[in-house]
Amino acid sequence: MTTTDARPVVVVLFGATGDLARRMVMPALVELHERGLLPTSWRLIGCATDPWDDDAFRARLEASLAEHERGLPADWEAVRRRARYAGRGFTDADPGELPEVLTQVRQELAEESGSDPLVVYFLAVPPAAYPAITRGLGRHGLAPDARVVYEKPYGTSLADFEELDATVRQVLAEDQVFRIDHFLGKQAVQSIYALRFANRIFGSQWDARSVEQVQIDVPEALDVANRAAFYEATGAALDMLVTHLFHVASQVAMDPPADLRDPQAIVAARDAVMSRFRPLDPARDVVLGQFEGYTDIDGVPADSTQDTFVAARLWIDTDRWRGVPFVLRTGKRMARKAQRITLVMRPPEGPLASEAPGPDTIEIDFSGPGHISVGLTVLTPGPDPDLALGRAGLALGDVPGGEPISAYASLIHDVLAGDHTLFTTSHCLRSAFTAFAPLQGPDRPLPLPYPPGSWGPPEACRLTAPHPWMLEPSGDASA
Ligand code: BG6
Repeated sequence: MTTTDARPVVVVLFGATGDLARRMVMPALVELHERGLLPTSWRLIGCATDPWDDDAFRARLEASLAEHERGLPADWEAVRRRARYAGRGFTDADPGELPEVLTQVRQELAEESGSDPLVVYFLAVPPAAYPAITRGLGRHGLAPDARVVYEKPYGTSLADFEELDATVRQVLAEDQVFRIDHFLGKQAVQSIYALRFANRIFGSQWDARSVEQVQIDVPEALDVANRAAFYEATGAALDMLVTHLFHVASQVAMDPPADLRDPQAIVAARDAVMSRFRPLDPARDVVLGQFEGYTDIDGVPADSTQDTFVAARLWIDTDRWRGVPFVLRTGKRMARKAQRITLVMRPPEGPLASEAPGPDTIEIDFSGPGHISVGLTVLTPGPDPDLALGRAGLALGDVPGGEPISAYASLIHDVLAGDHTLFTTSHCLRSAFTAFAPLQGPDRPLPLPYPPGSWGPPEACRLTAPHPWMLEPSGDASA
């Protein structure tokens, strides 16, 4: 990665006073600055409804950076001065203070660098706010030449997605639109390409002949009490399944793109596989859960049936994967945080076929810089040898010459470079919402209770049978 180009940049952050901006977007922007990956001239304009001034927003930025693992940048004072705030919100009916602040910042940057800045609008707001902001960009003349980043979920159902997408298309050309699914930006998810296509040992096994089951398991220990309103309106399945887990599944399942250096070829391969996701069968293939105590959280109705856990068996009807279940699981307040893809391999053939102690596995941990392991059957050394499971692993952060970058920083960098490889498309999202739709209809199962700190409702174990969930202690000695 290199500095994108010399053209100055203004990032307008809608939802600047919210949780996503604080936890992810602002630290990522400053990470790029610290690593020299932003143009020399850049500004951040926070936009929200709160009646703040520049100093209040700068204090928020400081708090966000201080609580992040990277901490404050060495040149914090210089970074601080780059942040401005535009209050009174922004909609098609009322643009608030943004146009005025943007004009000032544009002039400043033009004087500083001699050229007109690229403006990137980042919508870190709930999806219900997307249409009004998008129409506002059009109506107030802010859309031409800009890039616009939409957070997930981009739409809340198939119908809502179609309506939103039509609005977006009225205002923006496709190359201006960047639909984020930040799991696609995670280093180890990106490294699936290398694993598969640069290593015969893996690439030659990457299909239904060798793989019996794929697990994509993202348990979280995290609570939702600090964002109850968002969570109660969204739930685990919409927040994580149709978005992050489906996109990771597409990354694992895609057929080889014609050319890995061509973003369009990669996007086309992802589009193609997602269009083969079979619509979920809620009765047979989905278990929802709600952790005990969820309805005691302030702002959650006592009779809420919102899911805080989802496990689903997804079928992908391509020649490569027909008949192989992709079992996906995520939930809040679970036993621990992990993010793991496990390819559970078929049993061996030949003389040891019936004696292997367990399935071999290929495992990709995709939190942080990532970790790749293989679970192998080996002979226990000693006078009385027997077969046992062992594992060999590689921490991607330790690969010489590597400098791991966070998912959001990687994605914002790509927005500045105009590279769509790691962004999802309308086509992908239409396929995702189509496969997800049965879970939003009358057949949606009621969530089953599970104790906080557990692995979710035991009912979810039937989805992986005959195997256990590999992350649970019974399935994985290192869990
Ligand atoms: C977000 C979801 O998109 O991703 C959260 O809204 C979830 O519910 C988060 O906790 C997980 O992201 P990360 O980067 O911490 O793995």
